[in-house]
Amino acid sequence: MTAALQIRGAVLEAPGMPLALQDLELEAPREHEIRVRVVASGVCHTDLSVMTRPFPAEQPIVLGHEGAGIVESVGTAITKVQPGERVLMSYNSCGRCNTCLARAPSYCQYFFGTNFLGQRADGSTALSRRGSPVRHHFFGQSSFATHCLCTERNVVKVPEGVSDELFPLLGPLGCGLQTGAGAIINVLQPRPGESVAVFGVGAVGLAALMAARALGATRIIAVDRVRERLELALELGATDALLAGGSLNTVAEIRRLTALDGGLGVNVSLDTTAVSAVLRQAIDSLGPLGRCGFVGGAPAGSTLEVDVRDMMLQGKSLRGIVEGDSNADVFIPALIRMHAQGLFPFDKLVRTYPLAQIQTAIDDALSGRTVKPVVMMPA
Ligand SMILES: NC(=O)c1ccc[n+]([C@@H]2O[C@H](COP(=O)([O-])OP(=O)(O)OC[C@H]3O[C@@H](n4cnc5c(N)ncnc54)[C@H](O)[C@@H]3O)[C@@H](O)[C@H]2O)c1
Ligand SMILES: [Zn+2]
Ligand SMILES: [Zn+2]
Repeated sequence: MTAALQIRGAVLEAPGMPLALQDLELEAPREHEIRVRVVASGVCHTDLSVMTRPFPAEQPIVLGHEGAGIVESVGTAITKVQPGERVLMSYNSCGRCNTCLARAPSYCQYFFGTNFLGQRADGSTALSRRGSPVRHHFFGQSSFATHCLCTERNVVKVPEGVSDELFPLLGPLGCGLQTGAGAIINVLQPRPGESVAVFGVGAVGLAALMAARALGATRIIAVDRVRERLELALELGATDALLAGGSLNTVAEIRRLTALDGGLGVNVSLDTTAVSAVLRQAIDSLGPLGRCGFVGGAPAGSTLEVDVRDMMLQGKSLRGIVEGDSNADVFIPALIRMHAQGLFPFDKLVRTYPLAQIQTAIDDALSGRTVKPVVMMPA
């Protein structure tokens, strides 16, 4: 068996603690595994949720699930990629359950186990620290490290033609950006000339907003409580920006704006805040036959009260969405082609940080200073 590799990784020791950069040992890839030298990794709000509240992932663990890098070595059963190829990594899935077989892997029956537990299906972990186990395999990657293992299920080849400057910024397409863009393009599908309201314009919400614009929505309303994010939303194509948390009645204002176009509320709304009261506003902002989607990682047990009669009489629908219903091998290259044509300028959301400053990157995401931090690994 090949010797373990010495790597550097950002370890979460316990919820609420800052990440600590440490020397770790990573096993050589098993038959169905791929070792990637991580070039950069995005920080997604889901990493923050695992860090800041007790989540059922055991610690110590290396988080990170928006990695981009170079394939270094592959297990004997791997045919999809070869050493030297540029890849990014997306969410994991089992590939064998009914929803995976029906090509809806983001609703994999084993999504929780394959993404959140930080272990392989057999319960083992590839990572250790002076002989004691450290959880790896978070979203099939644990990309807050110089190297990681992934599988054919979640590795995505980077198409030819992507510049060396853009390549490190691709990781976030593997989660946050495909979630927002996919919610609009794959699920809610506003038609040209329709209206869209996005509640929470962080990374996911701004990706949704850019997608809505690319599809030809003509009124795109951004709602957030951070003023700078609303300014960015306007720059990226929002027609209207509403500051939440003050005296403004968001629902009434959205109805007023859509009335200017002859409507009775928006055709499509998306909630990314994970706040039930805001999701309720997203539903109440819909006009007849409106479609509301939500993606926020609400705490277990969160509930929502809806006006059942209004939903029925108005023909409204409500849909939970995971990873934008994205089939990453197909959808991410599509987003990269949209970027090349100026239709999805996701790089405008990114600020880069060296690995040594990963905790600053996380603090900046939490405070709202940075929309999408990308952590660059040392060369
Ligand atoms: N379903 C999925 O597949 C999936 C994938 C990725 C992320 N997520 C989840 O989506 C959510 C958004 O992720 P993100 O990376 O864009 O996070 P983010 O923190 O960048 O964005 C959330 C935005 O919501 C705003 N907000 C929060 N509370 C608000 C309120 N009461 N009113 C108005 N605005 C409010 C924040 O200011 C912020 O701009 C997170 O909960 C994350 O865990 C889900
Ligand atoms: Zn599955
Ligand atoms: Zn994520």
